[in-house]
Amino acid sequence: MSPRDLMGNLPRGKLVVLLFFCYWVFAVTASVTYDRKALTIDGKRRILISGSIHYPRSTPEMWPDLIQKAKDGGLDVIQTYVFWNGHEPSPGKYYFEDRFDLVKFIKLVQQAGLYVHLRIGPYVCAEWNFGGFPVWLKFVPGISFRTDSEPFKAAMQKFTQKVVSMLKEEKLFEAQGGPVILSQIENEFGPIEGRLGAAGKNYAQWAAKMAVGLDTEVPWVMCKQPDAPDPVIDTCNGYYCDSFRPNTKYKPRMWTENWTGWYTAFGGAIPRRPAEDLAFSVARFIQNGGSFVNYYMYHGGTNFGRKSGLFITTSYDYDAPIDEYGLLNEPKWGHLRGLHKAIKLCEPALVSADPTVTKIGMNLEAHVFKTDSGACAAFLANYDTKSAARATFGNGQYDLPPWSISILPDCKTAVYNTAKVGSSTGMEMTPVDGQFTWQSYTEEPASSSEDDTFTKYALLEQVYATWDSSDYLWYMTDVNIDPDEAFIKSGESPTLTVMSAGHVLHVFINGQLAGTVYGSLQNPKLTFSDSVKLTAGNNKLSLLSATVGLPNVGSHFETWNAGVLGPVTLHGLKEGTRDLSQQKWSYKVGLKGEALSLYTASGSDSVEWAKGSLLAKKQPLTWYKTTFNTPEGDDPLALDMISMGKGQVWVNGQSIGRHWPGYIASGRCNDCNYAGNYTEYKCQTYCGDPSQRWYHVPRSWLNPSGNFLVVLEEWGGDPTWISLVKRAAKTVSVYA
Ligand code: GAL
Repeated sequence: MSPRDLMGNLPRGKLVVLLFFCYWVFAVTASVTYDRKALTIDGKRRILISGSIHYPRSTPEMWPDLIQKAKDGGLDVIQTYVFWNGHEPSPGKYYFEDRFDLVKFIKLVQQAGLYVHLRIGPYVCAEWNFGGFPVWLKFVPGISFRTDSEPFKAAMQKFTQKVVSMLKEEKLFEAQGGPVILSQIENEFGPIEGRLGAAGKNYAQWAAKMAVGLDTEVPWVMCKQPDAPDPVIDTCNGYYCDSFRPNTKYKPRMWTENWTGWYTAFGGAIPRRPAEDLAFSVARFIQNGGSFVNYYMYHGGTNFGRKSGLFITTSYDYDAPIDEYGLLNEPKWGHLRGLHKAIKLCEPALVSADPTVTKIGMNLEAHVFKTDSGACAAFLANYDTKSAARATFGNGQYDLPPWSISILPDCKTAVYNTAKVGSSTGMEMTPVDGQFTWQSYTEEPASSSEDDTFTKYALLEQVYATWDSSDYLWYMTDVNIDPDEAFIKSGESPTLTVMSAGHVLHVFINGQLAGTVYGSLQNPKLTFSDSVKLTAGNNKLSLLSATVGLPNVGSHFETWNAGVLGPVTLHGLKEGTRDLSQQKWSYKVGLKGEALSLYTASGSDSVEWAKGSLLAKKQPLTWYKTTFNTPEGDDPLALDMISMGKGQVWVNGQSIGRHWPGYIASGRCNDCNYAGNYTEYKCQTYCGDPSQRWYHVPRSWLNPSGNFLVVLEEWGGDPTWISLVKRAAKTVSVYA
């Protein structure tokens, strides 16, 4: 019987007594509880080290190895979000297979002897398409996202219940003998709650109550939620959380997202976070009484298919301790493993004592945890960003590099310092022998006379038209030009201006590409404005608008727009400026090649492919296909797409994601000094190079021979320079 069943219609006084009783029963019987010091599992307070691995960002074949590497790295817990739009692609039609086999993933973690922190959300942010929301949710009548809206709450509750009941059936919660020790509802709602007024507050309280009512018998957290109501624990996210305090004295200090690096956006540089600073941030949190740290991400992985958020690259490497390909990112992985070992040696003192903090010099502090039973652990910190220090502590002297913490699990011997990192040779991409032999098929820009078009005397919002079934929407209209127009004789050209809410626009006039413009993560909107060649009579204007993932951060997702919202104008005519926005537009969702499934071996037979000297190069809207054999060995594989512009790649019918090496990274790639507060603008790499050049091809998607590789290129590229590469540790020359 659940506490709610017990409540029935009791009078108020009795209800209060009963609630106390229930709370007491919960505290005694639940196998995971907490107090101000830590989570308690099976009666034992624990210092827990956790790491995020998002199951759909790798293949099920990669999961056991990733989990094992996490365990070997000293993790106790694997944290993952649950990705609603992957699990409920259309209302009530659930999908929990392959990369979305949540139960299998959790069971693998359990088999490895680790715990799970399940962040159900179901809003997840996570640089994931639409923050994890299914796009159909936008079209539920009267809905308003992430606020006190009945249709939204009903859908959120239904999905959360679905996940919880699935896990209960599989006995995956701790009290049932399973690995799930912790859950999360919502995600970083606190910062936007204030803007929504009473509706925001009501929604946050409702979400907490709804989650607790699911009787999972494990604690729930709400990250960045200072008003999380009891018994929900509010937790910290960020690069540092040492000064974080939960909202009551009886909740433990928990850090749900310690960002191990940062994501890459197309057009942005690739961020790196130094291992020294990451380790420093963790030690600093623990020495301040922190008891749970999660690395976001421990393995970032890949945004396969069309699952990345707005302008987010296909790679979600994140500079995590395990790299995108599943290899150890050294020296980060090893450096953190050392840290975890040192922290674990301190665990008996950490869970029992509160720290005594003393200043032991300029910018120097000692945090000492000493128990009555004789356990003692000390953390010696040097906060100076420039100078090393020699600190005197007890009877010893300790050398502390700048911005570092030494850990002394017996209050005497420094077993670890956060700034002393081992060396590493790094990774390289080596081309595999053999070249691809390509065939090409160039599709014509769509025209209004085709099937599958519909018309409107208006410009349509893109997601409204596509429901995100494709990145692409064609906007087509006719432009009639009077033979008497002066520009026809003078040879001058009128100016076409197209205003779009984003994200990429290819302008075709009479079948010819007249230009391409695109936005960025910071500003997805764009304007095309250029002189265009028009002839007397009827001209065909075809605008191909493409989305690059739907935004994943913020509130009121139902109001966000993409596509050509206008105005669309033609300037320099006899009549002055002609506004085309309200005239008749024809629409077509998706590309022809998508409709024909050219990315599958059988679908590709439906068109004629060119080869040899007829191979299309630098042509927009071109599909390329080839086959290849799988190289021997087990080094991870990638495609080097350096010579290509933008599009999508499939291997054996599976999308490995969007490629866009044509988008060059801008940023500040300065020197990287680990000391001092980190932000994602520090330690950027690859400025002036493509934001993403290499694209992961999971080995488990390959057959030994005859793999079918298809590239859709929308800008124009030369496929003859695409190569298959292996990723492996650099070989160091003995003569170096
Ligand atoms: C957090 C968010 C995560 C992720 C992260 C940036 O604010 O909770 O889901 O988006 O930022 O990688």
